[in-house]
Amino acid sequence: MKGKVTIAGAKNAALPILASTLLGGGDCVLSNLPHVRDVTTMIKLLGLLGVRNHVEKESVLLNASEATSTEAPYELVKTMRASVLVLGPLLARFGKATVSLPGGCAIGTRSVNLHLKGLMALGADIQLEHGYIRAQASRLKGNQITLDLPTVTGTENLMMAGCLAEGTTTIHNAAKEPEIVDLAMFLINRGGKITGAGTDVIVIEGVKELHGAAHTVMPDRVEAGTYLMAAAITGGDVCVDRCIPGHLRTVLNKLQEAGSTIEEKEKAVRLCGPDRLKPLEVRTMVYPGFPTDLQAQMMALMSVADGISVISETIFESRFLHVPELQRMGASIEVDGPHAVIKGVPKLTGAPVMASDLRASAGLVLAGLAAEGQTSVSRVYHLDRGYERLEEKLQALGGAVQRVAGSV
Ligand code: EPU
Repeated sequence: MKGKVTIAGAKNAALPILASTLLGGGDCVLSNLPHVRDVTTMIKLLGLLGVRNHVEKESVLLNASEATSTEAPYELVKTMRASVLVLGPLLARFGKATVSLPGGCAIGTRSVNLHLKGLMALGADIQLEHGYIRAQASRLKGNQITLDLPTVTGTENLMMAGCLAEGTTTIHNAAKEPEIVDLAMFLINRGGKITGAGTDVIVIEGVKELHGAAHTVMPDRVEAGTYLMAAAITGGDVCVDRCIPGHLRTVLNKLQEAGSTIEEKEKAVRLCGPDRLKPLEVRTMVYPGFPTDLQAQMMALMSVADGISVISETIFESRFLHVPELQRMGASIEVDGPHAVIKGVPKLTGAPVMASDLRASAGLVLAGLAAEGQTSVSRVYHLDRGYERLEEKLQALGGAVQRVAGSV
């Protein structure tokens, strides 16, 4: 891989920011939204709730002044768990919300109990009926909330709800991901009163309503990390442009430890991969630790490293679905609970493999780039949920990647 790739807006910042448009009337103009399916799904869900949208050249204008429905149906929520992000805004603005329970997903059971517990602490009455969350509150009341664990979308749901609650909401043990800071910046621009986003204590003073505002979504750190790893696994030389190197600190450290040469600019990172990667010990952690969303991609790299690596997944209980697929390509991996022990092999061999979730698919594509012969990845719709024009961007870097018409 050789050349320059431009990073899109962050899916996981765009989704809560889009959901938060429900918190008031007024025009919200969002730029740098990534062209990925999850964003389209969220805009579709908002449309069902009555949020008008108008796609302009470089931005999308959304206006929730005529939003009327408060129900997020199963048909949409089952396709994207992040739909649950409309729960806090709907409840805070309209006093009621009916949102389908997301159910399980490939990477684990992924409960939303902490979202619900937090909303109950703000005075919501919550019932689970017929697969739906039914929440009600005449007006939410600020309170102290201590999360059992720093859930990302849970923190976002509660921060959005707190914006319109009466009094002060304090979220302790909050998630610190940069996407939470991006959401907070948008909410503050809309008149929300939030301090502490990016730390583990977020304080929100409730206001009566939020007005419209413009916002540019932050760059996608997972997309950036994926292209850096594409360079590392192919011994390439790639400049990843329009990213925030500070958001990738742990990832860059690990890639350097694996033998890559890294050059940082203000909004770009250039990576030159080594002839052969060195093995690593990697443990996924909440931000600023190593992101679980780059674990599958890192495993592809370690499959061809010169020695034994250990990757531990501490965030999700079953996010190793890419392992049997990498094994089909000749990787030597043993899984023991949350740990995967990877004995690097000199070469992977191309094979037909199946994508199981978004990031696992990205890991398989990276493995395919480094493998000898042809790899075909099926179920690429997983990739389209979160990577914008992946095959075009890889082709521009010299990757022999094609989307085969009619493939599923
Ligand atoms: N958890 C609970 N109860 C809850 C909420 C979470 O037990 O109420 C558990 C989960 O089951 C999981 C852990 O807490 O084991 C962490 O989950 P978290 O809630 O932080 O994850 P999330 O908010 O559902 C977001 C991203 C994920 C990313 C994780 C972790 C969005 C839309 N999604 O999910 O992104 O992996 O944080 O960083 O922001 C992806 O983009 O591919 C993706 C899966």
